[in-house]
Amino acid sequence: MKRIWQFGILASAFVVGAPLVAQQTADSVAPESATEGSVQAVSSVIADAYAAREAGQPVVSDNWMVAAANPLAVQAGADVLRVGGSAADAMVAVQVVLGLVEPQSSGIGGGAFLVWYDAASKKLTTLDGRETAPLDATPTLFQDAEGQPLKFFDAVVGGRSVGTPGTPALLAQAHRRWGRAPWPSLFTAGMQLAEEGFTVSPRLAGLVERDTDRLNRFPATAEYFLPNGQGVQAGDTLKNPAYGQTLRTLAEQGADGFYAGPIAADIVRTVQSAPGNPGVLSAVDMSLYQVKERDAVCVTYRAHDVCGMGPPSSGALTVGQILGLLEPYDLAALGAENPESWRLIGDASRLAFADRGRFMADNDYVPMPTKGLVDPAYLTTRSKLLAGDDALPEVAPGNPTFDHASNWADDEAIELPSTSHISIVDAYGNVLSMTTTIENAFGSRLMTNGFLLNNELTDFSFRSHRDGVPIANRLEPGKRPRSSMAPTIVMQDGAPVLAIGSPGGSRIIGYVATAIIGWADWGLNVQEALSMPHLVNRFGTYDLEDGTTATAQADALSAMGFEVQIRSLNSGLHAIEIGETLKGGADPRREGIALGE
Ligand code: GLY
Repeated sequence: MKRIWQFGILASAFVVGAPLVAQQTADSVAPESATEGSVQAVSSVIADAYAAREAGQPVVSDNWMVAAANPLAVQAGADVLRVGGSAADAMVAVQVVLGLVEPQSSGIGGGAFLVWYDAASKKLTTLDGRETAPLDATPTLFQDAEGQPLKFFDAVVGGRSVGTPGTPALLAQAHRRWGRAPWPSLFTAGMQLAEEGFTVSPRLAGLVERDTDRLNRFPATAEYFLPNGQGVQAGDTLKNPAYGQTLRTLAEQGADGFYAGPIAADIVRTVQSAPGNPGVLSAVDMSLYQVKERDAVCVTYRAHDVCGMGPPSSGALTVGQILGLLEPYDLAALGAENPESWRLIGDASRLAFADRGRFMADNDYVPMPTKGLVDPAYLTTRSKLLAGDDALPEVAPGNPTFDHASNWADDEAIELPSTSHISIVDAYGNVLSMTTTIENAFGSRLMTNGFLLNNELTDFSFRSHRDGVPIANRLEPGKRPRSSMAPTIVMQDGAPVLAIGSPGGSRIIGYVATAIIGWADWGLNVQEALSMPHLVNRFGTYDLEDGTTATAQADALSAMGFEVQIRSLNSGLHAIEIGETLKGGADPRREGIALGE
């Protein structure tokens, strides 16, 4: 397969959306930018993993595999799996190291969704560790005195955007349910790296440089990322003793050491006293936080059941809708080079995003047609809209079956995430797919006890109503903001065959859907499916990945009526194919690898 990728600076661009699907400008701004250069390989095993990634070949193993966004984090997970730890154990070790070495993307100050295949019971379940809106937050939190939405970064930077973190509780619950290793042992690598120092990666250094003004607004954040007024540089050794101490507290006290006591008090104080933009998160919010177990959402695609995270994420429903709408069309026969394949994928995505904008939110707060949205009969009817030759002139939400009355206006949520994805298979056959985030790169930019606090509340719609009609994803006290995160496990005949997911804001959905199509329809190996150039459509404009063969589709797609834009597209897909052997892949656009034995 021909693939051309060049690391480059983000070509940030605003996109004009299709008329009937609401979006805010920031929904179209790329999230984190691409990685310029690669992490220095610290061992021959890691060097081999990078070499396989660049050659489009998966890493192959017999027993276990871990794929994530930074080699130090992957190494920490591999060390746990090697001595008999479960995928849940390894995930804890990976996450606490990611929070140190990739702090812009995820950490204990954020939230996550986890999909778990349990080898013993042969069942899938999902855990929702999404942040919650503070009880004192109101639907107008992100509006000015005239009721107009705030500018995105005016909302993000500071305390206003901080939701109650969910990741520490998720780690604890996953370990309690599926762990084998002693809980404190899972913090050893993170504590050691925090206290002895780790090597700053090119990606972290580059993102610090681009975010200097915002990071500079808060002394604790500036002192860490901009010591002596200069941003940390790639190759620097960076120590974070405060994070090491926080990890020690978590190791000794469990999640209680986070949600109560001095760390919780520091989080609340940091949020409520943020200069210029304080928030309302309180000790009560911290004490009430709970992980929720939810049913996986599954959609049949070809020989597979594609399963993932339901509401409050729109991930599995929207990925599932895209694939379900494409089911009647023979993409395998059409092939990856055929513009007709991309017409179908592009308009299936637009139709799915129309439903997402209208119906999807936290269904603990708003009635949602969860089953209706992926009902085969509904998808078959709606897929007939794709039967023409040209781009749909406009798209509108459909009429999925509700089992109750409902009337929502289209959403206006902003998603400019950071985010990271972890895929793990352990030696017992358990499979984990977890996407984890602090939302925007460096989250709210507020830092306490060595970690960044999320800005996840800006995933709510800034407007609460449109023409007097309520928006499903409006902010309400205690509610979880709608997400696009799509941690996925693909099943075949009741057994897991692929774990996959990605960061990328609302483009996560397109990245995951097209990687599954590349793997399932076009016969790509798992690494090729992740490396495949991106073509992503959400609201009408077709984004083609700059510097790749994707741009060869531009003229044909324009002739069909799509508005085409060539831009940097920064996924961070990590996947493991499960068969007679395990085959792992990592997205060449970021710094990750797969390792296995
Ligand atoms: N904040 C990224 C997401 O939840 O989709």
